[in-house]
Amino acid sequence: MAGLVGAVPVAPVPVLRSCPPGVSGGQDPTAGRQALALGPAELARAAALAPGPRAVFVAGRRALRRFAAELLDVPASDLTTHFSCPRCGSGPELSHGRPGYALRGEPVPLALSLSRSSGWILVGAVVDPPAGVTMGVDLADPSGMAFEGFDGVALTAAERAALTGLAGPLLLQERARLWARKEAWLKMTGDGLATAPDTLDVLSRPDIRDLAAGEAGLPLSFCAAVAVSRTGS
Ligand SMILES: CC(C)(COP(=O)(O)OP(=O)(O)OC[C@H]1O[C@@H](n2cnc3c(N)ncnc32)[C@H](O)[C@@H]1OP(=O)(O)O)[C@@H](O)C(=O)NCCC(=O)NCCS
Repeated sequence: MAGLVGAVPVAPVPVLRSCPPGVSGGQDPTAGRQALALGPAELARAAALAPGPRAVFVAGRRALRRFAAELLDVPASDLTTHFSCPRCGSGPELSHGRPGYALRGEPVPLALSLSRSSGWILVGAVVDPPAGVTMGVDLADPSGMAFEGFDGVALTAAERAALTGLAGPLLLQERARLWARKEAWLKMTGDGLATAPDTLDVLSRPDIRDLAAGEAGLPLSFCAAVAVSRTGS
């Protein structure tokens, strides 16, 4: 839970969960045969995707729905989607933007976030978030960071300077770490990549935490970050 220690705002502690590739929406295959159903807006978005991306999308949404239902101790089928987008608003018809759910017409008391990378899924939540508290998680596979021009498009001048002298796996690891920090932050604010990533310096921001290697059951080589907004600031 969040609070104030003296005059210093304290960020709430998030709950994190990873789901490996091939586990349908993070469901334990031995837990029952019935796959978790998605909502109408999610099914419509899924239907517009090619089979590969559709499976990735559906797995992430199932994992998120199951995670939220377990935190709330309600059946997953009772949750309706309540996503929100700074441009398009919020509600059950929205299939993109910041994730959220409603239960019997009321938004549930969870600040949620979702990320997918190389078949893995990372979900995070702040339970009973104080008013206005948001969070973001992001997962990055360093093996996907080997493209020409990454530093120029994605990093600030200070971040590029911090990478000077790195090469090979160490360079890819550090790119992935900074990228995960940026996307976690941009999901926390809700701006997404409407904010140019090369304008956002994440070298040192107390609201962003790098996950330790292997934390939440992720592969040791992956980078992940979680950002939680503070109360009282
Ligand atoms: C959010 C974003 C930074 C991360 O994307 P990514 O690295 O490709 O993908 P990830 O798997 O890490 O994260 C995707 C998840 O981020 C979340 N997300 C998307 N937009 C978000 C926002 N504005 N705020 C918070 N979270 C958001 C969703 O849960 C999404 O999952 P979904 O695909 O099931 O909807 C990027 O997708 C983005 O900027 N999206 C917004 C684009 C936009 O503004 N579009 C215009 C809409 S009108």
